[in-house]
Amino acid sequence: MTDDVTSRPAPTAPDRNVTGASIKLDGVVKHFKGQDKPAVARLDLEITAGDVVAFVGPSGCGKTTTLKMINRLIEPTEGRIFIGGRDVTREDSNKLRQSIGYVIQSGGLFPHWSVAKNVGAIPRVLGWDKKRIADRTEYLLDLVGLDPKIFADRLPKDMSGGQQQRIGVARALAADPPVLLMDEPFGAVDPITRVRLQDSLIAIQHELGKTIVFVTHDFEEATKLGDKVLILSEGGHVQQYATPEEILTDPATPFVEEFVGSGAKLAYLTVTRVKDVDYDNVLTARIGESSQGVIDRARASGQTWVVVVDEAGRPRSWPSVAEVATKPVVSDYLDRRMAVVAQSSTLNDALDAMLAASQGAALVTDGRGAVIGSIGIGSVTQTIQSKLADVRAEERKISYESYIDGSDSSPTPVVAAEDEPHVVVRDEAHVVVDEESNVGTADDGSGTQ
Ligand SMILES: Nc1ncnc2c1ncn2[C@@H]1O[C@H](COP(=O)(O)OP(=O)(O)O)[C@@H](O)[C@H]1O
Ligand SMILES: [Mg+2]
Repeated sequence: MTDDVTSRPAPTAPDRNVTGASIKLDGVVKHFKGQDKPAVARLDLEITAGDVVAFVGPSGCGKTTTLKMINRLIEPTEGRIFIGGRDVTREDSNKLRQSIGYVIQSGGLFPHWSVAKNVGAIPRVLGWDKKRIADRTEYLLDLVGLDPKIFADRLPKDMSGGQQQRIGVARALAADPPVLLMDEPFGAVDPITRVRLQDSLIAIQHELGKTIVFVTHDFEEATKLGDKVLILSEGGHVQQYATPEEILTDPATPFVEEFVGSGAKLAYLTVTRVKDVDYDNVLTARIGESSQGVIDRARASGQTWVVVVDEAGRPRSWPSVAEVATKPVVSDYLDRRMAVVAQSSTLNDALDAMLAASQGAALVTDGRGAVIGSIGIGSVTQTIQSKLADVRAEERKISYESYIDGSDSSPTPVVAAEDEPHVVVRDEAHVVVDEESNVGTADDGSGTQ
């Protein structure tokens, strides 16, 4: 061993910022009083610092019990739990809980407290000074996508379910805990809000690098968010603990096979990204440009649709050439219902976006939200079908890493944030659309709630 710091080996994932702590469950058992069988028979589990791990399995299999044993909301009957290598089984449980973020389904906010007061709850207990709490609250509200100026003084009842859930996440992160536990965090919101919350959790995780353990009954959500997925059967028995790709391509047991079963097709949508699909070229036009010029270009390139973009190349509307021809110059109309996805979005999100917009295609944007092409519903379904054929042919294991670290060659010439994590990219791209349609409210689509 040498002490020469300059010759240290490069970290395995240089783009990954980890502030989280490892978690280890060592022979953990929970036997509730009056029950014949243990809820969790004997569980050994190691979670790497900075990983997101999803617990899935049928109802009553012990997911919540296991999660709650990590922060000792439920005391294990036997076994030990280590966080960051420290045995926390004998520590003061209140102190422990202050150092572990916890998010439950409906946000669990104190209804008579303002957002700021809710978020500052644990820092106050920890005796932080006012200024520090205020700064932290502002940072966190911003992090979860809510404008502090608008939301800090609001009461939970004056917010949508999705917004409350965002506050729940901000509150759990208030004291900067290394570990975040979430029990069906997005189980109570509508599907579109759910996708947005999931995306923003990915973005938050990328920025903070916590260790996140969450329970979900939704296998698709597990594969979308989890670096690893833990599939449990009754009694807290581990059926498989592996990456989503491994589970999908190589289910460890018949139980897993059946559990994944019909979800496999959907799950594939969640691990395949827009950039893995060929996109079509689009013709762009600038606001204020002469319509005739655009029509000529469209004719020359055989395009029937035109993407109107702003100075930054971000899409404003997606009219047909015939529509463009009705005005002398390209109008600055903003179409709020366009389907727009980032190249790092999943195919599932792309389908969602198309369905929400009632369109058979979506625009694809780079990390800064500039249009780089479009994808049609046909190419999405084709990709899924060929993916499924691959699975059936078994063989070749595709590394999930190649999807998430962007090491596969990106088909776009646009130099943008693909070096950065896909999540942030995607989030930014959404902002292009969402910002305008939710001015001043940072709404989660509460109009539909
Ligand atoms: N407080 C409790 N007292 C007695 N039994 C419980 C308690 N909490 C959970 N259980 C039982 O433990 C098992 C696992 O429950 P739980 O962890 O909540 O399952 P999951 O979250 O996977 O749906 C179930 O059989 C449930 O009935
Ligand atoms: Mg549960």
